[in-house]
Amino acid sequence: MLTKFGLSILFLTVALAISTGPAKPSTRSADTSEIERGRYLVEEVAKCAECHTPRNAQGELDRHAWLQGAPIWIMPVKHIANWADRAPALAGFPGMTDEQGERVLEQGTGPEGETLRPPMHIYHMSHADAKAIIAYLRSLPQAPH
Ligand code: HEC
Repeated sequence: MLTKFGLSILFLTVALAISTGPAKPSTRSADTSEIERGRYLVEEVAKCAECHTPRNAQGELDRHAWLQGAPIWIMPVKHIANWADRAPALAGFPGMTDEQGERVLEQGTGPEGETLRPPMHIYHMSHADAKAIIAYLRSLPQAPH
């Protein structure tokens, strides 16, 4: 049976767990926490890997080629003229400056302001989210050429 004391410990633990969730790390350095936040946004929220990671024969995302670029296998029911057939590599964030990456994620345009082809999303992320995502992508090993 839970005593009153046991119950308050339980509440305290739950409250602590909530207040020290992934968004507010207290002990890690700023850099590590920004990368971790970016990983969370990429993997759990925006699901960038669904398009930017190739799949194995079973149709599962290939963890060994994480975010290294992939053919687009989903097709619109109705033909869309400028539908892209490939999602470029994001691991290591090659070929783009941070500013260009921020443009893609904050303004929803290509690195030079050009129109992004579907099914790439038109994102309007906050600056902090875009920065965290780019920091995470830069922390990943670049795809072998
Ligand atoms: C539904 C599929 C899909 C998802 C999800 C997706 N992308 Fe893309 N992404 C694409 C495709 C397709 C392209 C190529 C677009 C083009 O050629 O215009 C692309 C292009 C890009 C580019 C390159 C832009 C350029 O013009 O060079 C970046 C950077 C990018 N995506 C980042 C991301 C990030 C970061 C996420 C997650 C936050 C993400 N994408 C989620 C499909 C996707």
